[in-house]
Amino acid sequence: MGDPLVDRRYLIPFRSPLLPQIFTDVLVVGGGVAGLRAALEVRDRGGDAIVLAKAPLEVSSTAWAQGGIAAAIDPDDTAEAHAVDTLEVGCGLNDPAAVHLMTEAGPAEIDALRRFGMRLDEADDGAIDLAREGGHRRRRIVHTDGAATGRELVRVLRERVALGARKSGGSIRIFEHCFAIDLLSSARGDGRVLGAITHHPRHGLQLIWAKATVIASGGLGQVFRETTNPRVATGDGIAMAWRAGASVADLEFVQFHPTVLYVAGAARALLSEAVRGEGAWLVDRDGRRFMQDAHPMAELAPRDVVSRTIAATLARTGESHVWLDLRPIGAARFAQRFPGLDALVRSFGLDPASDPVPVHPAAHYTIGGVRCDLHGRTDLPGLFACGEAGASGVHGANRLASNSLLEGLVFGGRAGAAALEEEAAPPERIIADVAMSHRAELDVSDVRSSLRSAVWRNAGIVRTGSRLDDLLDMLDFWGRYSLDKIFDDTEGWELQNQISNATLLAKASRWRRESRGTHAREDFPESRGEFATRACWRRDREAPEMFGATTEASAETASSESPA
Ligand code: SIN
Repeated sequence: MGDPLVDRRYLIPFRSPLLPQIFTDVLVVGGGVAGLRAALEVRDRGGDAIVLAKAPLEVSSTAWAQGGIAAAIDPDDTAEAHAVDTLEVGCGLNDPAAVHLMTEAGPAEIDALRRFGMRLDEADDGAIDLAREGGHRRRRIVHTDGAATGRELVRVLRERVALGARKSGGSIRIFEHCFAIDLLSSARGDGRVLGAITHHPRHGLQLIWAKATVIASGGLGQVFRETTNPRVATGDGIAMAWRAGASVADLEFVQFHPTVLYVAGAARALLSEAVRGEGAWLVDRDGRRFMQDAHPMAELAPRDVVSRTIAATLARTGESHVWLDLRPIGAARFAQRFPGLDALVRSFGLDPASDPVPVHPAAHYTIGGVRCDLHGRTDLPGLFACGEAGASGVHGANRLASNSLLEGLVFGGRAGAAALEEEAAPPERIIADVAMSHRAELDVSDVRSSLRSAVWRNAGIVRTGSRLDDLLDMLDFWGRYSLDKIFDDTEGWELQNQISNATLLAKASRWRRESRGTHAREDFPESRGEFATRACWRRDREAPEMFGATTEASAETASSESPA
């Protein structure tokens, strides 16, 4: 029997000449910050873009982002200092060129957003109020309404799209509720991507042909039972790029956010790191601060350190959560600075003046994704990636807080510009045959819920080789009767994407026999020189390809255990 993860090219059978056809210059899969910024760049340069969003634009990780956008806009701050903090948190795996490019472009992106009408919180003297978050040595984060930055960013970008092109003659069409099932591959042998096959509840299946396709569809956080991500974050773009033959990289690196509200029955709502930036403490059941003993930056240590320290505290105390003590901020200041979070906490009967808030870490940000360069180019012609779905190397092994919206703005714009430069390739006749499965019917939501629990348990904050092996066995079992099915709805396709992504994540995590950044292995608790390298995986190769080795790797003597 073959391996369905490798053998399956398309999720559904289709015959291209029989389906409705739509044409554009650049197809953008994903309507978050990276996708909208890519589309705006295409339009401003005179091109036509279609943006696919499987939900309304207001339901995305971007729209849910709280803390803000990091950028060196303070007169005493520099892009270099921002780069130094980004590189330090990234634990030796960042691509330094990507980091410098992003931190240098930051102030201009913020200026542009302000010109477009983005509201940013201001201090009493009228200057932009800058917050501090974990891993930043200074206040550098712009924000809106305390912790509702993403919502305002989406409003501004959407308005910008609606304004239309004044001079360029370009255009943007946004297709909401439209699910991209698979990328279309040329039969000419070079793997060129020609667009995508999509599904819309009213219009059914459609083919969208484009000279370039940009994957900006966000991360895979929903593969974990505990996550801050919206329901839509199922990593569809990563899985479809994998099926089309693109390399995926760094998938072992998933960032866990330390402070997610942990109240039975409540959605796993984030309590922004900016709350700790304002002075909140993490305390155990005895009210004792525990981060001071763990790191010199205490509650503002990098997220991986805080999440792991919480996990260790819980293992020691046997509790299910720790507490965020808001009293050092003061109830009045908390309400004024974070009105949305104040309302959230109070809605569960908690009074910030007296009640520490139960919190627990949860999966938050997918550092890995489709391998791409500084222009978003992947290793398939006609395919680009950016934002959380891409792996440019800007975050290394751990992402610095509030660098993700900035990444989306900077690399989204660059990917849009480069995508428009692609040569047009004519549509082709594509016949996708998928054999019917004779296995039993599936309860999709049951498999999905088992999968999410297993990934959280076996590939969560702290991992071991044997738990990852167990996870791979389970995924192989579920994959054998789920990946061979032909579904006709989003839930089924998402499940298939999640099984692929979970398998790739587990394989990459098992391969990396060290601890680095967000990836913590109990059986290999130290960083190891031979793993000071990034790794990417492709459908047509058994073993990963290593690239982007750091100086740390060349400086250390090779150990007897080779990474391959
Ligand atoms: C937060 O507000 O804590 C999240 C910001 C981020 O993920 O960078």
